[in-house]
Amino acid sequence: MEMLVSIIGSVLAETGRLLCGSIYSKIKDTVKFQSNLDVLEKEMKPLLALRDGVKNETELARKEGKVLKTQVTEWLKEVEELQPEVNHIQAVKLSRRSLNCSKRYRISREVAKRLKKIEGLLKDGSSHSGAVAVTHSLPRVVEHVPGPTILDQTTSSKTLAKTMALLSDDGVRRIGIWGMGGVGKTTLVRNLNNKLKNISSMPPFGIVIWVTISKNFDMKKVQTQIAQRLNLEAKMEESLERMAIRLYQRLEKEEKFLLILDDVWERIDLDTLGVPQPEVHQGSKIILTSRFLDVCRDMMTDDQVKVDVLNDEEAWQLFSRNAGNVVTLECIEPFARAIAKRCCGLPLAIITMGTAMRGKTIVELWKHALNELQRSVPCTGGVEDKLYKPLKWSYDSLEGKNIKPCFLYCSLFPEDFSIEISELVQYWLAEGLIDEQENYEDSVNRGIALIENLKDSCLLEDGVRKDTVKMHDVVRDVAIWIASSSEDECKSLVRSGIGLSEISIVELSSFPKRVSFMNNKITRLPDCVVQCSEASTLLLQGNFHLDRVPEKFLQGFESLRVLNMSRTRIHSLPLSLLQLGELRALLLGGCFYLEELPPLEGLSRLQVLDLSATRIRELPRGMENLSNLKQLNLSRTHYLKTIQAGIISRLSCLEVLDMTLSGYHLSVKREIEEEWTSFEELGCLERLLVLCIRFERIPCLSTEDLSWINRLRKFQFFIGPTANSLPTRHDKRRVTISGLNLSGEWIGWLLSNASSLVLNHCWGLNEMLEDLVINSVDCFAGLKSLTIASSNSSLRPGGGCTAHFDLLPNLEELYLQDLTYLESISELVGHLGLRFLRLKLIEVTRCSQMKHLLSCGYHIHTLPKLEVVKVSFCDKLDELFSYHSMQFIAPDPVVPSLRILELKYLPKLRTLCRHETWPHLEQVAVIKCNRLTMLFRTNKTADTIEEFREE
Ligand SMILES: *[C@@H]1O[C@H](CO)[C@@H](O)[C@H](O)[C@H]1NC(C)=O
Ligand SMILES: *[C@@H]1O[C@H](CO)[C@@H](O)[C@H](O)[C@H]1NC(C)=O
Ligand SMILES: *[C@@H]1O[C@H](CO)[C@@H](O)[C@H](O)[C@H]1NC(C)=O
Ligand SMILES: *[C@@H]1O[C@H](CO)[C@@H](O)[C@H](O)[C@H]1NC(C)=O
Ligand SMILES: *[C@@H]1O[C@H](CO)[C@@H](O)[C@H](O)[C@H]1NC(C)=O
Repeated sequence: MEMLVSIIGSVLAETGRLLCGSIYSKIKDTVKFQSNLDVLEKEMKPLLALRDGVKNETELARKEGKVLKTQVTEWLKEVEELQPEVNHIQAVKLSRRSLNCSKRYRISREVAKRLKKIEGLLKDGSSHSGAVAVTHSLPRVVEHVPGPTILDQTTSSKTLAKTMALLSDDGVRRIGIWGMGGVGKTTLVRNLNNKLKNISSMPPFGIVIWVTISKNFDMKKVQTQIAQRLNLEAKMEESLERMAIRLYQRLEKEEKFLLILDDVWERIDLDTLGVPQPEVHQGSKIILTSRFLDVCRDMMTDDQVKVDVLNDEEAWQLFSRNAGNVVTLECIEPFARAIAKRCCGLPLAIITMGTAMRGKTIVELWKHALNELQRSVPCTGGVEDKLYKPLKWSYDSLEGKNIKPCFLYCSLFPEDFSIEISELVQYWLAEGLIDEQENYEDSVNRGIALIENLKDSCLLEDGVRKDTVKMHDVVRDVAIWIASSSEDECKSLVRSGIGLSEISIVELSSFPKRVSFMNNKITRLPDCVVQCSEASTLLLQGNFHLDRVPEKFLQGFESLRVLNMSRTRIHSLPLSLLQLGELRALLLGGCFYLEELPPLEGLSRLQVLDLSATRIRELPRGMENLSNLKQLNLSRTHYLKTIQAGIISRLSCLEVLDMTLSGYHLSVKREIEEEWTSFEELGCLERLLVLCIRFERIPCLSTEDLSWINRLRKFQFFIGPTANSLPTRHDKRRVTISGLNLSGEWIGWLLSNASSLVLNHCWGLNEMLEDLVINSVDCFAGLKSLTIASSNSSLRPGGGCTAHFDLLPNLEELYLQDLTYLESISELVGHLGLRFLRLKLIEVTRCSQMKHLLSCGYHIHTLPKLEVVKVSFCDKLDELFSYHSMQFIAPDPVVPSLRILELKYLPKLRTLCRHETWPHLEQVAVIKCNRLTMLFRTNKTADTIEEFREE
């Protein structure tokens, strides 16, 4: 358009000097005016698109409980305000013929102004996109790292003191801590880390970051650890360089950081990692531990601290502590001392050895142990000889059926890997290492007992997550050595987590019994028969690029009992799978591309089949013949739309059926065609213990239909088109109802069986509650947790329809979210006759009409067990607990047991409760409650309460 204007302009100038100037300017003006309006429209479009994007993000962030940046909300507001203005101007465009010049001029100026504004908003907006929320809590300065203390070891305490001194020396930026494996380097830095946590008055660092490196250095993993510690989002698909830039920018903002790199094996380039050089970043430091002094030097440490072995006396002390009082027996002490000495002052060796000898009173056992330790040992590769002997000895002295093979099985996992206990037990079961028990749950308990035994022998330790275990890297080295050199059923080939891209046929041909290539980068498998006929376990999971299993490859593995190919990119499995007649566990979870399996009828011994998060559309053919199948995992099979009737009911041994978030929804018989599996069909599974399924709507069932549900140890029923929910503490028997109209529905039968009920996005709640009150002859004693979220229904009893007894006498947790009309929990209380005698937790968020949390006096006098109250984003809330009538005087504290109180974004909140003391309060968080004056009265002194108040 600009060009057009200038062309017209020049044409006119050339040919039409005769034309009067006013005509020219009129034409020019018209063209310009119109073009500006077009530009305005054109520019507004991307801005609106950007706004939609940012809005979506804020929605998501809000759902995740994050707090939005004020700039973002301001920005959104500005865009919203701009839109009608622009619309107004656009409207003028239509009537432009009737405009005279001065009006036109004014509008032109406005258009220009708006254009400028849009430009600014676009610029700001693009910087908001992807970053709408502030991470609410800043990371803690130091995180406690669990582990033993070194308080009573003088040598170690000295080393610790020396390191601490170096930390406060301004001239030292990089500290290397080195010493042999098992000498206690990690323990030392753990103690240092935890000591820094204790210095609360003047923390020397803004943040202390702990990172475990280990032998197979993986840049991405290390970056992820640092990012998580800094509350930065770790994006899987992001490049190393991009991530490094983000880490760098974030760390630069820290005033002083201390980075602890534990167990470094080779030089790490800080720039590539994304860590500012401590020489440049004032006051920051790096500590690394390594087995090798050279590595410290390569990392340019300013000072190196050697971690020495314990001296004889310390070694003896540590040994006696682990071995117990027997060592003081006259006949045993000399042997005990000799054994302690043989451990060469290595804490790991002393502890394992001492534990292995604990409480042994027969002298011969001690003599024998000493002899074994003195015997020469073959070359042990990576393992330090000094450590090998004591650890091997501990292994040898493991007692109990199959405990040794079970222990060696743990070495199949990568170094520093936290192994899920349930996963281990499944492998052990499939391998026949644990005797089969009555049912799966009992077998898991057997496995847990075995693991405890190994932990007691110091051969396994707790993993980083709950219900996981891991191996000390030196112990793992020894285990791998034993497993690779043994000739029995434990002979293993361990190549896990080392970044391999191919499998070596030569190695496979060494007749291993267990093979692990898990968590590598293998892209293809050999397309030939590799004779591996002895192998019973093959772990290939976590090779994300592996997309094909060649037909011939599996043919060599005829004895396989366990095949885990989870989280690979395979689309199908070859027919040769059918030759694996011994297979007990076929694990294909998270193979997102897997669409097809060959018919399975040949795998009659199969006990565990995991097809979770695959792309299957129907069950594999021949499924009905898997008469030994105990566990079937079909969770997250979104594409699974049909299941033929009569297949699942023939799996007579089935104990666990998981169809969480599966595309197949169950219905009762009369509601679906006969050819598909109905809910009633599952009732035939006499051994079923765990069931997770989804229903389209609330099934209407008779009492006989339901008797079998009582037998289940655990169930999750998701009812409605979108049902999904976050876990709570009482999820053993959970019902989630979502997106349904509940008026006229009877949920009594669900309530009598459930321990947890979630109602999400439902309407007609009031009518449903009325039916419940009228038709219930008994209370629902099993229900412990109730969640009501996102509903526009009223909960207030209508027409005097209130329960005469407490319908939920054992309720412990109450969650209320996004309830448009709720003014107080008392509405619910009145309806269901609740007394809250066992209630421990109340969590309320985004109930915009709520005026007070609860009125006390009429139904409820006190909440004797209530320990946790969390309330946030309730704009009208003015008091927490109010009294029902003015005459009522609280005889006792309303919430005598309250321990944790969290109040956020409650702009109208004035008081918590009149005349109330809070004797047991431990934690208080108050954020953006500007009107709150008197916070609380308590008998406790200020420092027993960890209060934080942020405005
Ligand atoms: C925002 O979300 C809606 C639905 O949730 C979707 O239709 C729309 O495409 C999204 N917009 C952007 C810009 O992501
Ligand atoms: C132009 O029109 C506006 C109203 O539309 C009027 O107030 C104004 O006086 C007019 N100006 C001229 C120069 O005619
Ligand atoms: C931290 O301090 C407390 C008491 O102030 C003490 O009991 C504890 O042992 C200290 N922990 C460490 C790791 O120094
Ligand atoms: C198989 O491997 C996957 C991926 O590592 C793991 O999540 C799963 O628990 C394993 N299956 C069993 C039964 O151990
Ligand atoms: C708290 O202090 C009041 C007096 O200030 C006293 O009467 C009451 O017994 C105390 N309560 C507890 C639990 O110590």
